[in-house]
Amino acid sequence: MFGSMLGLGYTCLAAAGGLWTLGLARFMFPNILTEPPSRFKVGFPSDFALGKVEEKFKAQFGVWIVNTEYNGQPEICAIRTVCTHLGCTPNWLEAEQKFKCPCHGSGFYKDGINFEGPAPRPLERYAISLADDGQLEVDKSKLFFEEMGQWVDPQSFYTG
Ligand code: FES
Repeated sequence: MFGSMLGLGYTCLAAAGGLWTLGLARFMFPNILTEPPSRFKVGFPSDFALGKVEEKFKAQFGVWIVNTEYNGQPEICAIRTVCTHLGCTPNWLEAEQKFKCPCHGSGFYKDGINFEGPAPRPLERYAISLADDGQLEVDKSKLFFEEMGQWVDPQSFYTG
């Protein structure tokens, strides 16, 4: 009787030890959510025709690459896909040539300037530059705000 109780005790101890080891292993190798890199290449400048809003980087990187005019100057820029009202994701409406937020109806021109709805300021831009291999590279670690006069910074656009 005592022997079987002792056996049971050792079994419980071994089970507890096993669970502890599993917990430790889980701690040492946690599930890691892999985030997309903050710098990434989007293609060559010639891939972006004047007037085009490229949407293929929206889902993964949260950016539109837009070749448009700003202050009369043609430039390629990387626009952040976050509404400046309360943070929803606007849609590009090709037929109406505007970004439209589905949440409260804010509208933005192709260059990101707000013109309707409650959004208090333009969409934001990420840094964009030409990489060594001739492709455009977006850097999401740097943001540029139009209302602070930052869209004149050469890092906020590419003109060729
Ligand atoms: S979050 Fe875009 S209009 Fe409100």
